[in-house]
Amino acid sequence: MKNNAEKKTASPALSLEQRVKKSVSFIRKTTRVRPEIAIILGSGLGSLTSTMSRQTFIDTAAIPFYPRLTVEGHRGALVFGHCGSVLLLAFQGRAHFYETGDLETVLYPIRLAHALGITTLIVTNAAGGVNNSFRAGDLMLMNDQINLTFENPLIGVAPRLMRAPLYDEHLRQLITGVAGKLALPLREGVYCGVKGPSYETAAEIEMVRTLGGDAVGMSTVNEASLAAAYGMRVAGISCITNLATGISSEKLSHAEVTEVADRVKEQFSALVNAVITAIGSRSRAHSALHSRKPRRV
Ligand code: HPA
Repeated sequence: MKNNAEKKTASPALSLEQRVKKSVSFIRKTTRVRPEIAIILGSGLGSLTSTMSRQTFIDTAAIPFYPRLTVEGHRGALVFGHCGSVLLLAFQGRAHFYETGDLETVLYPIRLAHALGITTLIVTNAAGGVNNSFRAGDLMLMNDQINLTFENPLIGVAPRLMRAPLYDEHLRQLITGVAGKLALPLREGVYCGVKGPSYETAAEIEMVRTLGGDAVGMSTVNEASLAAAYGMRVAGISCITNLATGISSEKLSHAEVTEVADRVKEQFSALVNAVITAIGSRSRAHSALHSRKPRRV
């Protein structure tokens, strides 16, 4: 059976799977780097790639079948390179559901990451703070999510078990530990994903708070669900760029979101770099352990 997403965007010639394969084969011809860790960089957070060495920068417009990105502040590129000694794929910029109304466009990077052999995914985003104790500029580790987009990337595919919890517990512990070592304050909470593009009303934010949301944003929830269903270990970090409607009396703008993201980018990069290094050393230790020849007793 064809899945829903495939029916919606099917090109007459190629299936979704074939299109992903074409994208992969283009990427494979462009770089030999084979990372297992990927990061999706949200609004204003794309500069993290400046700390990556030996980069291969691939403009998404050059990748066959890669969806076009349009939102201001979202540069579309895949950056392959090294973060310390760890191989990393960074997605600079993402498509939002509100740009096209097509979920498959949003999910394409995840399908591609899976096809490229990515096993650990860090998703970042800009979000409005709903929790009254949050301040603009805070970083929040996502410990769960509420999907208020009312989309589901798994519709139409054979029933699959969701990973519970969706956000990997070991990764969460690792990130909390790394933030502690860097003495970086890190909030923790539930991210509530909405469709956008308009910011919420005060009443909607009140509803999100009642439902248990700590932050609200227009991305991530469907990508994270699909990645988890593919079996990837998923972590999410939000940059609280503003206080959500009703908490702050100021009118929200995309410019404000990118300005605050810009202000915290150094802190954010330091955290993410240290997290990636820690994941890298943990997986090296893990493979060293498991590549040992079994002892004969
Ligand atoms: N609401 C929704 N999305 C957002 C916000 C917000 O307040 N801030 C950044 N992304």
